[in-house]
Parts: sequence; C-alpha cells; structure tokens
Amino acid sequence: MKILVTGGLGFIGSHTVVQLQNKGFEVVIIDDLSNSSEDVLGRITSITGKAPSFEKLDLREKGKVTDFFKRHQNIEGVIHFAASKAVGESVQKPLLYYENNINTLVYVLQELSQKEKAGFIFSSSCTVYGQADTMPITEDAPVKPAESPYGNTKQIGEEIIRDTCKVTKGLNAIALRYFNPMGAHPSAAIGELPIGVPQNLVPFITQTGVGLREQLSVFGDDYPTSDGTCIRDYIHVVDLAKAHVVALERLLEGKNKENYEVFNVGTGTGSTVLEVIKSFEKVSGKKLNYKIVDRRAGDITSAYADTTKANNILGWKAESTLDEAMKSAWDWELKVRNR
Ligand SMILES: NC(=O)c1ccc[n+]([C@@H]2O[C@H](COP(=O)([O-])OP(=O)(O)OC[C@H]3O[C@@H](n4cnc5c(N)ncnc54)[C@H](O)[C@@H]3O)[C@@H](O)[C@H]2O)c1
Repeated sequence: MKILVTGGLGFIGSHTVVQLQNKGFEVVIIDDLSNSSEDVLGRITSITGKAPSFEKLDLREKGKVTDFFKRHQNIEGVIHFAASKAVGESVQKPLLYYENNINTLVYVLQELSQKEKAGFIFSSSCTVYGQADTMPITEDAPVKPAESPYGNTKQIGEEIIRDTCKVTKGLNAIALRYFNPMGAHPSAAIGELPIGVPQNLVPFITQTGVGLREQLSVFGDDYPTSDGTCIRDYIHVVDLAKAHVVALERLLEGKNKENYEVFNVGTGTGSTVLEVIKSFEKVSGKKLNYKIVDRRAGDITSAYADTTKANNILGWKAESTLDEAMKSAWDWELKVRNR
C-alpha cells in the first residue's frame, strides 16, 4: 500500500516513515525542506534498508499538489505532518502560520476527497485543550480558545477535517493529539534537529548538556505542582510514530467506527520540569546548568493525557520510560555534535 507522508523528513515524520517501512508500506515523502534536510533520506534508508521516494515540493503550491496526486493515483493514505510549528514565531507571523498550516491541509484534503476511499491522519496537539479543568485529559475535555495562532491552526485544522468528513463518504480521518514528543530513534541516525534556539525543553536540555547553550532557564517554580515546576506528558517519538501506523491501519482496514475520530497520544504520566532535568542528569552522568526564573507568559500549569481511548480502541500504548526517551535524546545530541 502506498502512503504519502507530508513533512516526512521532519522530526516526527522521519520516525513514522521508518515504522511504516518496517511494516511493509511503500512510502512517498513530500517535504519542502523548510525545517529539515535532504540527508535525512539517507539516514532513514540506513535504518530500514529501503529508500523512501521523495519529492521536494511546497504544499502551498496548489497546482503542484494536484499534479502530484495525478502522478500518484494509487496513494491510499496520507499522514499529514507538514506545518510550521514554532508557537512564538506564530504570534509574530500569524499569516505565515495560517497560510502554511491551513492551505496545505485544504489542498491535500481536496485531492483526497476525489478518491473513492482514502485514509488521512492529522498531526494535532494537546494545545487544543489549553489548561484543562481536570487531569488526566480525556478526548471529551472541551477545546479551549487557542493561546497562539499556531494552536489555532490545529483547532481550525480539526474542524476542517471534521466538516469535510461529514460530507465525504470515502474519506476516513483520525486526528492524533500529541502531548510532548521527545527522543530519537535508538540508532541515533534520526532525531530532532531544531534550527536556532530550541523551543522545546528536551533539545534545550541536551544542547545545554553538550555545551551549545550556556544555561537552561526554568520558567517558574511556584506552580501548584509537587516541586513547583510545570507538568507535561513526554512521549518517546518512536512510540508516537507507532501510534500513526496503528491509526492508519485502522482506517485502511475499515475498522473505524466513525469517519472522523480523535485520539490522545501521550504516556498518561506527567513529569515536572525538574524531574525531566533529573532524568537527563541520570542518563548522561552530567550536572545540568539551570536556573529558576520568573514564570513565562502563556505557560499552563499541567497537561497530561488520559490514554484509555487509544489503549482500548487502537490497541496502542506508549512503551518507553522518560529515562529511555531521554537516553535516546542524549545519544542523538552527542552524535549530532560529533558529526
Ligand atoms: N514536535 C512537537 O512537539 C509537536 C507537538 C504537537 C504537534 N506537532 C505537529 O506535528 C507535526 C510534525 O512536527 P515535527 O516536530 O516533526 O516538525 P518538523 O518541523 O520537524 O517537521 C515538519 C516538516 O514539514 C515540512 N514542511 C513544512 N511546511 C511545508 C510545506 N508547505 N510543504 C512541504 N513541507 C513542509 C518541514 O520542512 C519539516 O520537515 C507538525 O504538524 C506539528 O505542528 C508537533
């Protein structure tokens, strides 16, 4: 079965391509390399022993998207990762985010809607819940007003898919609401490669550990949590990648109950920032240079998933511990710096 993976050279996309190929899917990747590099292709190939097809294409170019689908009529499913993802940048450049994250989604759905049958997996985010009223967060928790244009693109994206599925019988879609992806493939051949200053905690920690950043700022230690720092649900990217494959299989095998479904993808366990730092110090044997600073505007206190729905319905469960995920992130950082 031929699967299109948009943004397939990026962090989560590249790990998902590996899992798809391991399961025997034929993969074609579209990526415009705006936040990735072409040599990821070779590294995927080194892991799986098989080169995925690749087209460098900007999905904002509608004509090129149409042309692509004409040339690849046998695509049966799409996993749509391509998007801009920096929350802070989205506040500064909202139109870039609405253009890239919404237009690309619409163009891909327009093509898929013309097919007799197609499966579609969307990269959504736990940001849609904002600060949820109860923990852990189930899929029934209300979607709260978005804190950033980036977060809004995920909410609007889900609505676009839901509305399209309502009137498009052959289209079957699943939105996966990721919690906090981290880590890297155990081979350390692929991983997260932030351009510039990392926006996420774990790459900032590993870059500080390796000496690329001087110090990590921990934003606030007066939150109502066990040690005062914010709680998130950190999920190993390989576990997350596997969730995409089982979700896609559910659609391709026609096992879905409705033609638009939503699942949380997390571990179900929350970790504080200080626990994440401790995990780093444990697996690396290094002391991390960090300091507590004031709270950062927009940060929520706590977010971790209730994963019962994904566990029971998809038959998927995160397997890696925080330490295992951290070890893989550290191995990857060391490999990148040596390169
Ligand atoms: N990493 C996270 O913490 C996180 C959390 C929740 C949701 N997500 C979502 O998951 C998806 C993947 O995230 P990631 O961390 O792998 O990001 P990433 O930036 O590593 O990967 C995205 C890929 O899409 C490509 N891309 C962007 N715009 C494109 C376009 N117009 N045409 C073609 N290719 C394009 C980029 O070059 C990149 O390779 C995104 O939709 C993101 O919003 C990520």
